[in-house]
Amino acid sequence: MPSEESHVFHPHPSVTKNAYVNSMAQYQQMYKKSLENPDEFWGEIAKQFHWETPIDNRNFFRFNFDLTKGPIFTKWMDGATTNVSYNLLDRNVRNGNGDKVAYYWEGNHPDDYSRLTYKKLLEEVCQFANVLKARGVKKGDRVAVYMPMILEAVITLLACARIGAVHSLVFAGFSSDSFAERIYDCEARVIVTADGVWRGEKLLQLKTICDQAMAKCSKDGHNVETCIVVSHLERVTAPKSGVPHKQTNKTPMIPGRDVWWQEVVPQASTSCYPEWMQAEDPLFMLYTSGSTGKPKGVVHTTGGYMIYAATTFKYVFDYKPNDVYWCTADIGWITGHSYVVYGPLANGATSVLFEGTPFYPENDRFWTVVDKYKVTQFYTAPTAIRTLMKFDDHLVTKHDLSSLRVLASVGEPINPEAWLWYYKLVGHQRCSIADTFWQTETGGHVLTTLPGVHPMKPGAAGFPFFGVEPVLLDENGKVIKGEGEGYLVFARPWPGLMRTLYGNHDRYELTYFSKFPGYYCTGDGAKRDADGYLWVTGRVDDMLNVSGHLMSTAEVESVLTEHHGVAEAAVVAKPHPVKGECLYCFITLTETGKFDDKLLQELKTHIRGRIGPFAQPEVIQNAPALPKTRSGKIMRRILRKIAVNDRDVGDISTLADSSVVEQLFASRPANA
Ligand code: WTA
Repeated sequence: MPSEESHVFHPHPSVTKNAYVNSMAQYQQMYKKSLENPDEFWGEIAKQFHWETPIDNRNFFRFNFDLTKGPIFTKWMDGATTNVSYNLLDRNVRNGNGDKVAYYWEGNHPDDYSRLTYKKLLEEVCQFANVLKARGVKKGDRVAVYMPMILEAVITLLACARIGAVHSLVFAGFSSDSFAERIYDCEARVIVTADGVWRGEKLLQLKTICDQAMAKCSKDGHNVETCIVVSHLERVTAPKSGVPHKQTNKTPMIPGRDVWWQEVVPQASTSCYPEWMQAEDPLFMLYTSGSTGKPKGVVHTTGGYMIYAATTFKYVFDYKPNDVYWCTADIGWITGHSYVVYGPLANGATSVLFEGTPFYPENDRFWTVVDKYKVTQFYTAPTAIRTLMKFDDHLVTKHDLSSLRVLASVGEPINPEAWLWYYKLVGHQRCSIADTFWQTETGGHVLTTLPGVHPMKPGAAGFPFFGVEPVLLDENGKVIKGEGEGYLVFARPWPGLMRTLYGNHDRYELTYFSKFPGYYCTGDGAKRDADGYLWVTGRVDDMLNVSGHLMSTAEVESVLTEHHGVAEAAVVAKPHPVKGECLYCFITLTETGKFDDKLLQELKTHIRGRIGPFAQPEVIQNAPALPKTRSGKIMRRILRKIAVNDRDVGDISTLADSSVVEQLFASRPANA
């Protein structure tokens, strides 16, 4: 069998034909310009946006990435002023796109759907901006948002942007403790939420969680003054087996503090003059977990983030004016910010905003929605793909997916098995796949293949986006040229890179810039193959060292899932008296898989064959489910605890289903 790296899939002529970038030469020429002359490259893009105070070309871009030379900073278009909501809404309406659909909203229940045009979105954003102003929200104030995937969530973010308030959205799946911690950290005095939401057949009482969070904050001396609540449950269809919402919708409201959205927004004026913001003023903050300590409040700024989200969206999805784009990510994550809200709207795009889950009412909901809206670009996560792969192919093939042109993936390295399934079954070997590597911190895609240009290799992120200069370093900070594997770092900022951590610039410098002076450190490892493709191998902290052999957990997982009996795998390091560390593997079986000695033997042999004898797993545990966050990330921290039978697992409130943890402790194999 040829090595994985030699599997190359060329973009289909139908994708290449009309792509913005459709040859390697064109990509190389644009990429070269973006590095050699960033001012001109990004200056031409910035010109397509409205700047109230024009950009000073002598002051276009400055940065320092080297702590030995002084504080770390990045500034793009410093001194120019603009407003992001003006550029996303007013500008598109003025350009004749007022009647164009900005969002098709698809509810949890297939009977619930609606649409919103650019003109209407602008009006509603202005109305809500006026409500926020009336409640005393001013430029620079933080507004905490805890919302489901509904149109009001988008409206809230843009209303904040309109008046220069900094939104701090917390995924509406975090516990009240986590939410309280984040409200407290950013000192938000206003919260925007909804009464509740159905996810499949499960009802989430969001307002109750907000109440608990607000109570915790007051105990710590921080009072939330206003909580605006969208009345959502009443207008949607409850699932048949769910508790009728009339009974559950007794949302307690505290007079003075709590107000219904529907009671204040419709009265407000539909025009609101935008607050002109400095390019380097914050647009929003978003918390991401750190490997140690409190979550980090990643801060993104106005000008740079806007042009970067817009540009990556345009080229990576090759978005054309009549396309219908769908990103399944929740708005609570950076993918939701950049590629459900800011990127698409900056391009005047039409998107699907989906409230539900892939499994309700049936396991083919994704494909039903693609067919219903004739989606052209589909963006999801490997974990979703792997879950859907477990079902009968017919659930995919019975739908007309011929509208699709570009598929994309984000969140973790995609294993070749899943990539191929996505490519063949969903994309009919015609769609390009963009495996987009990026982080909350990077603001937008930084490594990917572009749809009309790059031949694709299953599992490889590919090449740098414009303006991005990736470097691989060894442990001593020496640059690895050509083929090799090391720390993935970046030698300079692109416009969308975060500027600081909220209230803690020291931690920013320490976390990202102290290990290798002169570089932004991603915390991920990567290898470069002979053709120059970058393969992200996973977090550096997920590296395994077995008898001196370094390997990534992702690498082993990918090999395990190649076996037809294995749907998903997670591998962690377990301390070993002789080898230093050994491999402890958790596997979820496919429908046809059977957990028996034969399977264990086959997997061990397969790993020995694919990686080497040193990679042979010590323990393989049957894991009907894995501990995952709601965004689908496997929490390896917990698996490491299970591997060593240490029940002190810490905070598991971010898990989608915390009962999984107990199940796994209870079913540890005898040899573990
Ligand atoms: C991982 C999500 C490999 C990586 C946008 C990164 C990926 C972390 C990929 C950031 C990918 C994300 N290939 N790894 N295509 N995309 N990652 O902040 O470890 O939630 O550092 O941002 O996810 O996760 P975050």
